[in-house]
Amino acid sequence: MSAQPLILDRLSRSVLDSGEEKRTLAPLTCTFAPGKLHVVSGPSGAGKTTLLSLLALAVPASGGLLHWGRDNLTALKPSVATTWRRANLGMIFQTSRLVSVMTALENACFGGSIRGMDVRDEALRLLDGFGLAARKDQLPSQLSGGEKQRVAIAQALACRPPLLLADEPTASLDAANAAFVAETLRAYARANAATVICVSHDRVVIDAADDLVTLQRP
Ligand SMILES: Nc1ncnc2c1ncn2[C@@H]1O[C@H](COP(=O)(O)OP(=O)(O)OP(=O)(O)O)[C@@H](O)[C@H]1O
Ligand SMILES: [Mg+2]
Repeated sequence: MSAQPLILDRLSRSVLDSGEEKRTLAPLTCTFAPGKLHVVSGPSGAGKTTLLSLLALAVPASGGLLHWGRDNLTALKPSVATTWRRANLGMIFQTSRLVSVMTALENACFGGSIRGMDVRDEALRLLDGFGLAARKDQLPSQLSGGEKQRVAIAQALACRPPLLLADEPTASLDAANAAFVAETLRAYARANAATVICVSHDRVVIDAADDLVTLQRP
């Protein structure tokens, strides 16, 4: 699978809140190109997490179009959306979601395991690059917050997803770890011509962006 530009044309979402329609993302038109680190910023409630949920096809759009290259993602049936997600999407969350009874290496391989891919060599290479080679057999409870976040990033990158979405991946990290994460995401986008979209308010991440989209509250 190769990365494609993710093209949003007045993409929006509303939900029913106590019987009233509430906008959770104002119509957004932009293109997220492959090979770049795109950072999405904006105040709390601006719709950043909503946007990532839409891009992950986890919730339906209320209006507008979403294309992955020529493919219209807004029109996909749920079963086809699942196949598309498995083939194309990697995700990194604000706090790392690791399996507590699996070692750092097993966690880093887990995305591959559930896709039937052998990613052990790539996971080992990533952990080594992240300074975690000596920690690979530790459980999450034996790792620091920054180490856990690096394992979670290794898990997302080991499958080499063409599209990588990250929701505030540095929110629980100090400045040095945050800078490392931002640089890793940018380097991943370049080296793999991947489309990388990272929601963040973090100055360190915003400064590392190739492209910045600032959302306003709907
Ligand atoms: N299911 C829902 N029902 C009602 N309102 C919702 C729902 N989901 C989101 N919202 C509202 O939509 C708006 C956008 O939410 P969202 O979580 O996308 O914001 P955000 O930009 O990620 O904020 P933060 O920076 O605080 O994480 C907020 O006002 C939120 O309260
Ligand atoms: Mg959010």
